Amino acid sequence: MINATNINFNIDIDEFVNFYIKTVDRNLNFLGTHSRNTSIISENIAKFLNVKCPEKKLLKYGAILHDIGKLFVPAEILNAGRPLSSIEFEMIKAHAVFGYEILEQFESLKDIKSFALNHHYRNGFGYPKHINFGKNEIDPLLIDILTVADSFSAIMEPRVYKKSLNESQALEIIKNPDNDKNAGLNSEVLEALTYLVDNDRISLSSFF
Ligand SMILES: [Fe+2]
Ligand SMILES: [Fe+2]
Repeated sequence: MINATNINFNIDIDEFVNFYIKTVDRNLNFLGTHSRNTSIISENIAKFLNVKCPEKKLLKYGAILHDIGKLFVPAEILNAGRPLSSIEFEMIKAHAVFGYEILEQFESLKDIKSFALNHHYRNGFGYPKHINFGKNEIDPLLIDILTVADSFSAIMEPRVYKKSLNESQALEIIKNPDNDKNAGLNSEVLEALTYLVDNDRISLSSFF
């Protein structure tokens, strides 16, 4: 029988993160795999740019949970294999603020809430624009690393509406200055990513 005096209700972060990855992978169009890949790429870039260990840890968990706000967006919209209406797009965009609000609720996760809020905001471009971005909460370079890793990962991954691409193809797309989606991406981070891809230093599991 369980001894109630020994019960420990503290949740281990890795236990929670593994549960999250499995759940959103199954229910939300492989979001778990995307989250893990984003975290791996972020870590590779951070290592190359000599980011220190405590910050790397923040970035690791910030990257894994950056899209947690999608839990509040209807799965039918996230999994839809059809063109979305403008209202549906706005609902998806809200995941950045939802993510911030979720992570803020947990004492052990509130330090990474800015990753969720800012990962689609690129130095004046992207979203959301209407709030104060908590600039002093986290080193902006860490957010910029996540932003590049998130885009790169999404470009490589298959979706219901597109096939997967390899690293070199994805690099070409993310570095195309004529593509509006790339506006505001940090050039130092993009250069680091280029070096890593050119030297075969990005290795992703699953999908590929
Ligand atoms: Fe996102
Ligand atoms: Fe993402």
